[in-house]
Parts: sequence; C-alpha cells; structure tokens
Amino acid sequence: MSQNNHRASITGTGAFLPPKRLTNFDLERMVDTTDAWIIKRTGIKERRVVENGVATSDLASKAALRALEDAKLSPEDVDLIITSTVTPDNLFPATSCYVQQKIGAKKAGAFDVLAACAGFIYALSIGQNFINAGTASNVLVIGAECLSKVTDYTDRSTCILFGDGAGAIVLQKGNGHCEVLTTLLGADGSHTDVLTLPAGGSKIPTSTKTIEDRLHYIKFRGREVFKLAITNLTEVIRQTVATSNLKMEDIDLFILHQSNYRIIEATMERLGVPMDKIFYNIDKYGNTSSASIPIALDEAKREGILKPGNLVLLAAFGGGLTWSSSIIRW
Ligand code: ACO
Repeated sequence: MSQNNHRASITGTGAFLPPKRLTNFDLERMVDTTDAWIIKRTGIKERRVVENGVATSDLASKAALRALEDAKLSPEDVDLIITSTVTPDNLFPATSCYVQQKIGAKKAGAFDVLAACAGFIYALSIGQNFINAGTASNVLVIGAECLSKVTDYTDRSTCILFGDGAGAIVLQKGNGHCEVLTTLLGADGSHTDVLTLPAGGSKIPTSTKTIEDRLHYIKFRGREVFKLAITNLTEVIRQTVATSNLKMEDIDLFILHQSNYRIIEATMERLGVPMDKIFYNIDKYGNTSSASIPIALDEAKREGILKPGNLVLLAAFGGGLTWSSSIIRW
C-alpha cells in the first residue's frame, strides 16, 4: 500500500528518554552475558529504562510537548493525536487519550496504532492522510514505548535488546519544507509467531499459569527475525525509492529502525549504500520499537545532520510481520 503526494510537512520534532541507564555491565550482573558479546552481536552499549510508576503516556507526553514547542504550537492547536506503541498504558483506553489529558490537547481526537516496530511510519502515514484530506490541520504523531515492562530480565536472548523512550513529530499542511513525499506499508501475517507478546489478550488471557510460564514477556525467535528483517527492509526500501522515482544514491540519509546494528549494516550492504549515510543511536538506547525512528529523527535534526533539501529515508520492520518506509524532503 503506498501513497505519493507533496502535502504534509513535519513542522516539529521532539524526544524524551528516561534518565536511568541500564548498561551492558549491569546486564552482566543479571544474566549470563558479557559487554563484548552484546556489542559484537547488536551494537548496543546501554539503554534507558523507566522508574517504577512511569507509563508510556508519561514519556509520550514529554516528547509531544517538545515537538509542539519546536513547531511553535500550543496543545490546544492539536486536532489529532496518533500514538504508535506495543506497550500501551492499558489494553484500553488508548495511550493517546492519556497523552491528550496530560498535555491539555482539549480539542484533539486520539487513538493508537499497533504495527509493532514498524508502527511509527504507519502512524505517520495515517496522519499524512488526515492532512491531505483536509480533515485535520495539526497532527501529533508519536512513537512511545516502555519495553522494560514487558522484558524478561532472566532471558539473556531478549533482555539485552530493549529500552524505553518516546519521539514525536507534528504534521501540518505542506509549506515546502520537510515534506513527506512517500509512505509505503506492508505486512505478512503468516509469521505472527516469530515475534510476539503471547499472553494478556483475548487469545491467551492472563492467568496464574501464563505468569508462571512467563508469557507476559516478549518472545522471539532471534535468528529468524534477524533474517526476515534484512530481507523485508531491503525490499521495502527498494520499493519506496522506486515509487518516488528516485535512485538509491539520491537519498542523503537513511534512518532505519534501531533493532540491531548488524541488521542495519547487512541491509545497507545489500542495497549498496555506504554506512556513512546511516544515522544510528542504537549504542545509546537499544531497540525502543515504535519510538526508535522519531527519536533518531529528532537527534539527527538537533545535531545538524539534516540539511534543508536533504532526502531522508525512514524504514522499519517489526512483529506481525510488519514493515514500512517513508521518504521525506527535509
Ligand atoms: N550473551 C551471550 N550469549 C548469548 C546471548 C547473550 N545475551 N544471547 C544468546 N547467546 C548465545 C546463544 O545461546 C547461542 O549459543 P549457542 O551457539 O551455544 O546455542 C549463541 O549466543 C548465538 O545465538 P544466536 O541467537 O544465534 O545469536 P545472534 O547472533 O543471532 O544474536 C540476537 C541474537 C541479538 C537476538 C539476534 O538474533 C537479533 O538481533 N535478532 C533480531 C532482533 C529481534 O528479534 N528484535 C526484536 C524486535 S523486532 C526488530 O526490532 C527487528
């Protein structure tokens, strides 16, 4: 599914990372692993985790307020809030409703999107459509996660990867800057079991047994996900560039979902893209699922890496399976 237009613009970005750091050395004391193994296999040195009592909407609200400030808008200007998350405050109501109340966006509609690590670009695509249709003027698109709450810190194969954080953007009608040129979305439901949080939904409701079996934590088959991620990311990036009538070498900066540095490296190798065109911060934050792309976009902007007119390609892959990609002319 793809869209091609020149209307919605990103007029503000913001991010929030909780201050508490969980380093590889901390993990060495929790499970049978080493700093050297984690860096070699994933590129991660540390990740951020929330304190007890902090929820996804707390991180999302802080990132949203920063994005609104950047766009020079007030919360009352917002008419739609879309949050992508796999770690909502509750199964319902939507985390976006908590955000709406916390930031005081009294006039905004609010709902969540679930497309796992690919979800932020799904949410971006929905926001873009609202702007293009003229049914919204100021849309907050947020990616926010508290993955530490669903991570099994006794399982060394999963607990090394995940971190908490939030990123947000403001979408408005295009003003010739930071225009969303293309978004492309895809999914393959035949692999729902390779990456999942098994219990707590209608299929396997929470019970004493699911807790004993630790089914309330993220489970994945790492090697399979690794291979599927590279194959699908490579393909969706090729399609997005072709749909936009561009060549791979036209893209100035690639911001991929920060899942594993080796996944990013292998994808770029297949595409023939040099690694100096990659922005990454996985070493500092680990895999923050939906939040990783807006956090990276905000950092790249604040570090002055994004220059006016640059073509930026965003791409992500996650549970579902889902994948998504977007090209923005900065
Ligand atoms: N420390 C030390 N050894 C470990 C650790 C650890 N933390 N974890 C696994 N090992 C061991 C394994 O037990 C295995 O030992 P064995 O050979 O004796 O059986 C060995 O290391 C190799 O294990 P692999 O699973 O093959 O290691 P791999 O290089 O594939 O790395 C990883 C594992 C990092 C999970 C990788 O597969 C990966 O990144 N997968 C995809 C990421 C993912 O699933 N992300 C979920 C979100 S979706 C997304 O963001 C794309």
